[in-house]
Amino acid sequence: MSAASNQTSSLSEELERERIISLDKAAELTGLSQDSLRRHYAHPNKKSRVMQVVDFPPQGKRPRYAHIFDRDVRDFYSEPAWCSERLFAVELFNGMIWDPACGLGTIPRSARAAGLSSFASDIADHGYGERRDFLAASAPTTIFNVVTNPPFRSAREFVERALTVGASKTAIIFPTARLNAAHWLETLPLARIWLLTPRPSMPPGEVILRGEKPGGGKTDFCWLIFDRTHEGPPSLTWLHRDGGER
Ligand SMILES: C[S@@+](CC[C@H](N)C(=O)[O-])C[C@H]1O[C@@H](n2cnc3c(N)ncnc32)[C@H](O)[C@@H]1O
Repeated sequence: MSAASNQTSSLSEELERERIISLDKAAELTGLSQDSLRRHYAHPNKKSRVMQVVDFPPQGKRPRYAHIFDRDVRDFYSEPAWCSERLFAVELFNGMIWDPACGLGTIPRSARAAGLSSFASDIADHGYGERRDFLAASAPTTIFNVVTNPPFRSAREFVERALTVGASKTAIIFPTARLNAAHWLETLPLARIWLLTPRPSMPPGEVILRGEKPGGGKTDFCWLIFDRTHEGPPSLTWLHRDGGER
């Protein structure tokens, strides 16, 4: 394998893991200077130390398309509303919807639009819901479901917490490419996997708050649905933004 393709594959692995990489890592992997990366791909915040790379050619060539973002310490990345709107159109929920990592409140808004009652909380103040650390919070006293886009690194803890505190159903957004390695799923009541299509773009919430329109998502995501009454293997279905299950 050539040095260039080695560089490309290590970047792909990095991307698959992180979605967002540090600027010095991007410079190291491409052979371009940080200044050059900033000049050509800088986000309005020119001081940012991280960039989201959408596509990288071999070493020495410029990325086809990239953004430079500040990385949010708590993984505050916002999904488009269609992800939850479509989920509530196809998945039945009995009881209240709790999004314990509500960010900008996209999921609770979709739940209410679908005629479901909802509760929203988040460890940080992004202008929506109550302040709570989900991993330490107690459960509501009514029948409830957890529907959330958790910080990726805490996905397992979020699901286990939701099941422990008694959620009827738990739905999380998860990077599809990480499923193979997620052996922790094997012992949980995973009932369905909804593959989101087309790829949703998931920029930092700050980008949405600035009123920018993101595009060009390069990471595939799915909904994982855990149902405490489920037995056996999960089913796999496509969930299309524009309707239909393809
Ligand atoms: C991927 S974002 C959610 C985006 C959200 N769906 C929206 O519409 O903007 C993940 C969120 O998890 C929150 N978070 C991280 N750790 C948390 C914890 N332990 N408890 C509650 N919320 C947490 C972050 O503050 C962030 O808002």
